[in-house]
Amino acid sequence: DEAALLEQFDATLAADHRIEPRDWMPEGYRKTLIRQVAQHAHSEIIGMQPEGDWLLAAPSLRRKSVLLAKVQDEAGHGMYLYSAAETLGADRADLTDKLVEQKQKYSSIFNYPTLSYADVGVIGWLVDGAAICNQVPLCRSSYGPYARAMIRICKEESFHQRQGYELLMTMMRGTDEQRAMVQDAVDRWWWPTLMMFGPPDEHSPNTAQSMAWGIKRHTNDELRQKFVDMSVPQAEVLGVTFPDPELEFDPETGHYRFGKLDWEEFKRVVGGQGPMNAIRLARRRAARDDNAWVTEAATAYARKHEGAVA
Ligand code: ACO
Repeated sequence: DEAALLEQFDATLAADHRIEPRDWMPEGYRKTLIRQVAQHAHSEIIGMQPEGDWLLAAPSLRRKSVLLAKVQDEAGHGMYLYSAAETLGADRADLTDKLVEQKQKYSSIFNYPTLSYADVGVIGWLVDGAAICNQVPLCRSSYGPYARAMIRICKEESFHQRQGYELLMTMMRGTDEQRAMVQDAVDRWWWPTLMMFGPPDEHSPNTAQSMAWGIKRHTNDELRQKFVDMSVPQAEVLGVTFPDPELEFDPETGHYRFGKLDWEEFKRVVGGQGPMNAIRLARRRAARDDNAWVTEAATAYARKHEGAVA
């Protein structure tokens, strides 16, 4: 009966073992995971666009091949994550429809434009750096398929972060104009990157339950603080500053204090009113619709060969 199943589920979590697709799980746990994993997958797929915009304008063949590989990795991450969502009973096509119909979210960060090539470097360094900070603890998430997908994704994100930092280091060794481009990109991306971690803990409706279920391992504010502490020394080595006059080391806590985030901007962007929301979704919708014939043909082919031995 349900009480016994719940007891077994709780015991699995208490022992820090993983919940697997075959296991019974409370409906709320399943729904929360589908929500988070689907949002995460959508973010990887939509996240191909801001950097994809620079593929045809990369400054050298080397930069172009690195960027191409990176953008393809993001597609791969989206695929692993949709597969993880499928183990929970979700349907991939249905999830895409929900994204396009704005019934499911994707990360706020991908609604900002990439105005110069330095943005590609800053996305690698800061945006992928924030993603790593958020996702390394998810390698210990209580749901097995999600946790295992995170291990590989984090390894690839770590390569992305380094390629961004290396790109920026190269630009900082260049001309005054190139250095100014890097600083300008940092100024535009710093605050939106801090918003990636989600609302402050007191305004995060999902955190308490997700932590109790072991889906999340740290709160939004804990991870945001960790990211700030990590990034300041990296900025010093690079030779850029963050656009925050209140950023200051607090010897008492051992952490950096930082200024207030503009949560009204966050709400606008999550609510669909960010600078690039309409373009990001229109492109995703067009990709779904223009390629529908491929999906139909592949599905028909798979049906025809169902059960056939390869
Ligand atoms: N952008 C868009 N929506 C957000 C963001 C953000 N940066 N942060 C929080 N939200 C949404 C939440 O999804 C939630 O909405 P919902 O209830 O309608 O789903 C609402 O704001 C309230 O937030 P929380 O209660 O804090 O939500 P949650 O516990 O899910 O925490 C977080 C949000 C931290 C993003 C979590 O879902 C998570 O860790 N996800 C996995 C990582 C991820 O998705 N990364 C994507 C960007 S990184 C990349 O792809 C390179």
